[in-house]
Amino acid sequence: MIIPGRFSIFTVLSVFLLTACGGGDVGELPPPADILPVANTAAQPLESLRPIHAIAIYPADPARLYLAAGNGLYLTDSGGQVQLIGRESDKLVTLLTVSDTNEALLVSGHPAMGGNLGLLRSINGGRSWEDHSGNADDPMGFELLASSAADPKRIYGIYQGLRTSEDSGKTWLKVADAPTQLFDLAVSQQNPQVLYAATGGGLYLSQNGGKSWSDPFQFKLPVTMVRTTTDGLLYAFVVSKGLLRTAERANDWLPLNNEFGMQIFTRMVVHPENSGHLYALNQFNRVLATMDGGKSWHSFAGDRKPETKNEIRGQQLYSTHCKSCHGAMGVGETYSPQALTDKDYFMAPALDDSMHAWHHTDDALVNTILNGSPRKSRMIALKNILSEADAHDIVQYMKSLWGTRALDCQGPKHMQCM
Ligand code: HEC
Repeated sequence: MIIPGRFSIFTVLSVFLLTACGGGDVGELPPPADILPVANTAAQPLESLRPIHAIAIYPADPARLYLAAGNGLYLTDSGGQVQLIGRESDKLVTLLTVSDTNEALLVSGHPAMGGNLGLLRSINGGRSWEDHSGNADDPMGFELLASSAADPKRIYGIYQGLRTSEDSGKTWLKVADAPTQLFDLAVSQQNPQVLYAATGGGLYLSQNGGKSWSDPFQFKLPVTMVRTTTDGLLYAFVVSKGLLRTAERANDWLPLNNEFGMQIFTRMVVHPENSGHLYALNQFNRVLATMDGGKSWHSFAGDRKPETKNEIRGQQLYSTHCKSCHGAMGVGETYSPQALTDKDYFMAPALDDSMHAWHHTDDALVNTILNGSPRKSRMIALKNILSEADAHDIVQYMKSLWGTRALDCQGPKHMQCM
């Protein structure tokens, strides 16, 4: 049986669409070992953490990341483990690291009981927090925060419009309404009045601190992530074009990678000393990393390679018969102009564990491969080309792409793991 197969861009994006339309000495962060986990919490695999709403580089060790999650603030190690380090009863929506007079961490979101958290600021890696809620009776709940190294005390935030603070987040002024269908916001690291807005309708530029916007890039496509770097680069994730980069003023976009399948970047951060190391978050809660400036990506925790004889054989068969539609390593079909505009176009879903391949038993997967989708769709029956043993090996390969949650919860059990 095949469960709903139409993955329109709008269902994918609506998950992330923001509703916002309408001096002392420089402090040192404690070394990693000093960041204390919340009492009674064990390290857990990164893949088990969901939802993750935002990521930031951990300044004391840029190979590690802070994660703003639905149940608190987490810190990764440099591989696949994460540790809860604070705000455990809060749903964190956004976070930002700034180095103004201190290395500061800012977070915002919502307490578990509802309402807004205001803006919380920590200068000791999350061990204690100053509350910059402004009006304590009516705290703000920011959906996005952004700043520029050129003026680190100036923070921009999205909460009921675009707001700005000139004093590290203590007091705020509303600048204007936020651009419509806003997904992400970045400030030029060289000019704090230059802002970029990634929106459902393209990438917009403001040269006056967000008062007005123009569309010089003319993508006319959903842009889900935008990021600036201190060396003047601008990255954007443009749906159906993938990850692109330009020098900020050049409007000369270099395609870096467009083999992300159904993955869409929602956030990205850049290693401060090594601009080739980028970390990204996709809409399926997966944290990805690249070491070559964005050309090739792997999961932050590292990818498992096929190991057994059957998995390796399955991988070869997958490359020949499935990859053209379901993407390299089962990431699904990459968005195309047709997929974005033709509502009757069935995209080939991801077969790794980011969508719902794992909701089916092995036998059901084998059945789909041999007999095709019951709907009239591009998933044709392959039983004249592949044997049952071939199909089983392909399923073994697909499962080598799944994490422990999907493996433990495969088939009818999946409802207990959602
Ligand atoms: C021509 C493109 C194409 C090729 C080649 C293709 N598929 Fe598909 N596949 C699709 C499409 C489109 C769907 C969605 C079908 C639907 O929803 O009716 C799909 C659905 C599936 C599903 C159901 C996934 C789910 O989550 O329910 C599985 C499993 C699957 N394909 C496996 C494979 C395997 C394995 C191969 C190679 C042996 C393969 N497909 C080859 C296009 C393709």
